[in-house]
Amino acid sequence: MKGIFITFEGIDGCGKSTQCELLKDYLKDNNKDFIFVREPGGTVIGERIREILLDKKNTQMNSRTELLLFEAARAQITEEVIKPALEEGKIVLCDRFFDSSSAYQGMARNMGMDFVAGLNMAATGGLKPDVTFFFDITVEEALARRGKRGEASDRIELAGIKFQEDVRKGYLELAKESDGRIVTVDASRGVEEIFEDIKETLKGKI
Ligand SMILES: Nc1ncnc2c1ncn2[C@@H]1O[C@H](COP(=O)(O)OP(=O)(O)OP(=O)(O)O)[C@@H](O)[C@H]1O
Ligand SMILES: [Mg+2]
Repeated sequence: MKGIFITFEGIDGCGKSTQCELLKDYLKDNNKDFIFVREPGGTVIGERIREILLDKKNTQMNSRTELLLFEAARAQITEEVIKPALEEGKIVLCDRFFDSSSAYQGMARNMGMDFVAGLNMAATGGLKPDVTFFFDITVEEALARRGKRGEASDRIELAGIKFQEDVRKGYLELAKESDGRIVTVDASRGVEEIFEDIKETLKGKI
């Protein structure tokens, strides 16, 4: 593919969206052709799946149902949005992609990282990000940030601290085994400092 596919990962509140916004502004300022999408969602079908996933009323949702809904949304956005954009040579920024399933469902919900990796492959047809930023931060720090933001938690965020710890463990394991695709960023630092790391990593790539 001609374009470059960049994804943003990490536990809830680690700063993904903040850094996405900075990179979007930076790309705009530099007249780069890019699109920004988020997971789950980003297509009409995907946004409807997202509503089901985040609905607090769906407390009875089975783990496999949850995983497959994420993968279904992913399959749709991959074919409908991401692949065409990459083929046109665009930069694609994605707030969460398949590493989220590996960390949340594979590790934290105990479904197995390898099992989820297989479904990730099925959903994306083998498409992988060129660069994945993993914003690493402790659960305590991320919670403190979110507390300041004061938003109501959704169904998945309500799963608690132990769950977030496991998600982080999942990401750390993925980063260790990623052959350099996943770039671990110390997300406990200031917004600007973190963004400098991102620009440095993307230098010569975008
Ligand atoms: N480096 C930083 N230092 C301090 N506060 C930060 C930093 N980055 C982001 N924040 C703040 O922390 C909160 C969470 O950030 P953000 O929404 O970017 O995280 P997120 O990873 O996108 O979260 P979610 O998983 O809920 O989408 C926001 O209030 C944001 O302003
Ligand atoms: Mg976000």
